[in-house]
Amino acid sequence: MAALVLVHADKQAASVAVATTIRDLIRRRNAEGRTAVLGLATGSTPLPLYAELVRLHRAEGLSFQNVVTFNLDEYEGLTGERPESYRYFMEEHLFRHLDLRPGSTHVPDGIAADQTRACAAYEQAIRDAGGLDLQILGIGRTGHIGFNEPPSAADSRTRRVHLDAVTRRDNASFFARPEDVPHGAVTMGVATILEARQVELLAFGPAKAEIIRRALSESPHAACPATWLQLHPACTFHLDPAANAAL
Ligand code: GLP
Repeated sequence: MAALVLVHADKQAASVAVATTIRDLIRRRNAEGRTAVLGLATGSTPLPLYAELVRLHRAEGLSFQNVVTFNLDEYEGLTGERPESYRYFMEEHLFRHLDLRPGSTHVPDGIAADQTRACAAYEQAIRDAGGLDLQILGIGRTGHIGFNEPPSAADSRTRRVHLDAVTRRDNASFFARPEDVPHGAVTMGVATILEARQVELLAFGPAKAEIIRRALSESPHAACPATWLQLHPACTFHLDPAANAAL
């Protein structure tokens, strides 16, 4: 099953389209009396999407009281109080602007003493919530989704990973000094992501064109983890024209 590719006029249009999908999911779940379970991503790519969700909450009264969230990943060694952490990023750009219930947001624990146990508990929490309804993804230039760096197998689960040098360089701007970027992270696995009922990947700008081409044209393999998304029955790539340029 190939992924669906939608080329939008620009990243704002793509973000509005995905926010609308999320709004409809939340409303559908509300009507069913069930919780909407969202898988969320960090990075610069989803920022306009999060801004649009905040706008929908403020301007259209979209409530998140019936929403549970699970983030893809977290840096190893950073507490949620550190501004470079993904927990802090999510609070800053999304969570604190919404009416989410206390305890309804989950981000992997970057400082757990027993990481094997913490990762298993994260997987269990997703299952207990009923599984991910919709997973938001960005993509790294190494082909990573979440922090599933090459090689990442299709059956990989939430675990500790070692970050690629390219990824550490790409993310250095979020840290005071490049050497401050952690060498490790905790990420949902490829299998965890593939089990989401719906996957919406966003990629914008010329720096993503080549990895988007590879993700969609190479046969699925561990050396380019985003290629595994071709196996997902309901995965959409939302691109701007620049990210679509090499296809
Ligand atoms: C980080 C995140 C990924 C994200 C990627 C791309 O490494 N762990 O989930 O997709 O960066 O980042 P950006 O959106 O800033 O290009």
